[in-house]
Amino acid sequence: MGKMRTQSAPWRAAAVLASVLLVGGVAACGNSDTGGGGSKDDGKITMGFSQVGAESGWRTANTTSIKESAAAAGIELKFDDAQQKQENQIKAIRNYIQQKVDVIAFSPVVESGWDTVLKEAKDADIPVILTDRSVDSADKSLYKTFLGSDFVKEGRLAGEWLVEQKKGASGTVNIVELQGNTGAAPANDRKKGFGEAIAANPNLKIIASQPGDFTRAGGKQVMEQFLKANKQIDVLFAHNDDMGLGALEAITAAGKVPGKDITIITVDAVKDGMQALADGKFNFIAECSPLLGPQLMDLAKKVHAGEEVPARIETQETTFTTEQAKEALPNRKY
Ligand code: AHR
Repeated sequence: MGKMRTQSAPWRAAAVLASVLLVGGVAACGNSDTGGGGSKDDGKITMGFSQVGAESGWRTANTTSIKESAAAAGIELKFDDAQQKQENQIKAIRNYIQQKVDVIAFSPVVESGWDTVLKEAKDADIPVILTDRSVDSADKSLYKTFLGSDFVKEGRLAGEWLVEQKKGASGTVNIVELQGNTGAAPANDRKKGFGEAIAANPNLKIIASQPGDFTRAGGKQVMEQFLKANKQIDVLFAHNDDMGLGALEAITAAGKVPGKDITIITVDAVKDGMQALADGKFNFIAECSPLLGPQLMDLAKKVHAGEEVPARIETQETTFTTEQAKEALPNRKY
């Protein structure tokens, strides 16, 4: 202590300067940006992304879009495939929190059960962006924004088209429905939108509705059961192209002509679905765009910089008939 008091003036000045620099440096690290935790202050954004899985053509196109866009935007991407399991997504998000990534983005496999892990991300000061699918958390401060489709609208557009097609029908029109995985936002919302739209015509009746998990195999298997259990099926509403494509095999194997004996409506508009529509095996598709990568990277940069972003960004989409599919197919990217 005594020695300290006897320091010369230049030495004291150097010590003060060093401590100012040290404190300033620590403060600068802690405030590296207002938007995210940040692993290292090297100016590069690191994003931890938890993907649902690889269940459909849509998902493959979505993963490609995210990986390509991250590379193009100069964002370092840590990517995890949850294989359609919520526990895997929670584990991946916790890993990203531990690694102190700058931004976490994910497409939640189901809507419920995210509050705890989202709170952990918030406590770690890591901003979260929901993409493609949303969560049902009441506390909207747990995530910065949700970028994705209006799934209720997609179901409604599918239902409205059917109502128009069957407006002259005198007897009951028997509809079977292939749902996405149980608890997923697109499964819940497409069912809701479709159901509300077809209520306009009491002749339209859903006689069976089961999950086919958004996969071709699921669609085929459940359609086989529908065909065995129901003598007269007039319409199939599949929550995505892949389940519709799987169902085509079951319908053909049962000796029926898809698109004629059974009207087929799907959602997505991936290339294989569009081809089936152009070939007259499907009859109508409500589009759901998987090309979310560029907007997601843009949002990541904004939230990392502490900029305000809209709470909800809705993807622009359309619908396709057979004629429109024929026209659009040559330029279809996915
Ligand atoms: O969340 C989007 C849905 O998930 C797509 O419609 C489906 O194909 C995918 O599996």
